[in-house]
Amino acid sequence: TQRDVLPPPSEFQELLGSLPTRKDMMNALHYCYNGFWFCEAILEGTTTFQQNFQAQDTDIILVTAPKSGTTWLKSLVFSITCRLQYKISDKNHPLVTTNPHGLIPFFEFLYGDNKSLHMPVGKPRLLATHLPYTLLPESIKTSKCKIIYLCRNPRDTFVSMWHFRKKILLKFDPSWQFPSIEESLERFCEGVSKYGPFWEQILQFWKLSKESPEKVLFLKYEDLKGDIIAQCKNIADYLNCSFSSEEENEGVIEDIAKFCSFEHLSNLEVNKSNEEGNVPLIENNMFFRKGEIGDWKNLLTTSMAEKLDQLVEQKLHGSGLKL
Ligand code: A3P
Repeated sequence: TQRDVLPPPSEFQELLGSLPTRKDMMNALHYCYNGFWFCEAILEGTTTFQQNFQAQDTDIILVTAPKSGTTWLKSLVFSITCRLQYKISDKNHPLVTTNPHGLIPFFEFLYGDNKSLHMPVGKPRLLATHLPYTLLPESIKTSKCKIIYLCRNPRDTFVSMWHFRKKILLKFDPSWQFPSIEESLERFCEGVSKYGPFWEQILQFWKLSKESPEKVLFLKYEDLKGDIIAQCKNIADYLNCSFSSEEENEGVIEDIAKFCSFEHLSNLEVNKSNEEGNVPLIENNMFFRKGEIGDWKNLLTTSMAEKLDQLVEQKLHGSGLKL
């Protein structure tokens, strides 16, 4: 299994000892590995994944920055690709009984010390990661496997991350000392957040999607919100499993979109539960908060938001990408 290939602890400790460290945007210790920031647990799974994963041409890999709508994307891609096997109206549809993260595991956790995750069997295999392109194993780059990348407006991503991490850290240490929002945003802007610098990852996949549109489909959370039907078709076309006109007439796309909507998905018993395990230490219900565009207004001042915008504008300058 994946767990049998974890490196000997001493080797990993040696690597850790050689890396620069900093407290991240929530005051948790992070290590800088090949230009990106990781906590210890994720870094261990990442290095094991890099050394051991062999991609297949039929693999579908979902890549996101944390809190940009991964759970939503997982539910959409699962429903779209498995729709012949599982009708979305089926009472026993896997998404009714399992949180999307249990159906499409993250590599970093699959290859970490997690007993409840398993490598998907059958084809295509649906897998996910928050890693930047430069840290993906060679076989993903050289095989014909397909990548779907989803990003989100950095203001909302930051705010979503703040709430999510705060909840988790307080759960494990009620006396955890958080930086002020200003300081936290400062570190986010310096790139010191989980898998950060966030703009580097976005730019890598943006450029690749322009160079090799058959390899990377680049999506935005806001576009999914804007026209989910068009984006479901976009995903299906990209994955060579386009909806037929019969399916369109029967309303299959609408049914999938409705099923995967925040309102529906977050109200399923499995997603309301505080069951853990699909992502280590995180309860299923933690993946659902508000699911809205613009909630940054409730946490950031206009000047903080403008500061973030300026950074993003500067980093994306010349790329043709607007966030
Ligand atoms: P908010 O914290 O702004 O509400 P991720 O899945 O990458 O961890 O991202 C989580 C964010 O996506 C949260 O944002 C969460 O509420 C939102 N989300 C989860 N499921 C969603 C869905 N089906 N539709 C839209 N947003 C969703």
